[in-house]
Amino acid sequence: MDLNITNEAVTDHIRGLYTPIDSDMAEFRKEAVEAGVPVIMEETEMLINTIMIILRPHNILEIGTALGYSACFMSKALEGDVKITTIEKNYESFMKANDNVAQQKCSESIDLICDDAVHALKQLRDGGRMYDFVFIDAAKSHYRSFWDEVVKMVHRGSVILCDNVLMRGTTVIPPEEAEHKHRTNIRNMREFLEYICGLENVQTSVVAAGDGVSISYIK
Ligand SMILES: C[S@@+](CC[C@H](N)C(=O)[O-])C[C@H]1O[C@@H](n2cnc3c(N)ncnc32)[C@H](O)[C@@H]1O
Repeated sequence: MDLNITNEAVTDHIRGLYTPIDSDMAEFRKEAVEAGVPVIMEETEMLINTIMIILRPHNILEIGTALGYSACFMSKALEGDVKITTIEKNYESFMKANDNVAQQKCSESIDLICDDAVHALKQLRDGGRMYDFVFIDAAKSHYRSFWDEVVKMVHRGSVILCDNVLMRGTTVIPPEEAEHKHRTNIRNMREFLEYICGLENVQTSVVAAGDGVSISYIK
């Protein structure tokens, strides 16, 4: 089962209101979509843009670089006045992201790491790194492992945003009723959302925008 998490007409309407941050990023999005590489959806980008302006983070951590689109977008939204660390485990994507970051003139604000996130996160924590904003956009079944490392590197007032938490609506299906191959992913994501929504020191909203976004404020 593949559900729309929002009314399609509403989504189209919101996307119609989207304006790319600049023409280079419009071209970047087009190329990524044509190549079949996932990039943040337009409505998710709009939401992150607003959060960037409200929060004005100095240090951002991103898990899941892909081609570097969202990292470049956040850098541009903050006019380069930010340090972004982004982690990608796929070497080919990492190399392409390096080129794209240079092409978008974002090299000064973006550090790319090629590694599995859980390993890289432990090293960043050992290095005493702290982040004002964390964007989790990688393997959905590992969100809890990412979260458990990331929460050690945030402070009161930090925000952790996770993308794809409604998984095209499949998270509403009880795992035992889902297709066998999706059961573990669905169970993990449902448990993850229940966990972060139940934390006392964290205020989380789950928003049906794009593919579902959770926004967690550290109290
Ligand atoms: C949805 S894409 C990221 C899209 C990107 N944030 C954007 O909007 O431009 C997810 C990426 O996470 C990477 N990834 C998945 N699991 C990972 C892990 N455990 N550690 C690091 N990267 C991972 C994948 O290789 C993929 O490139």
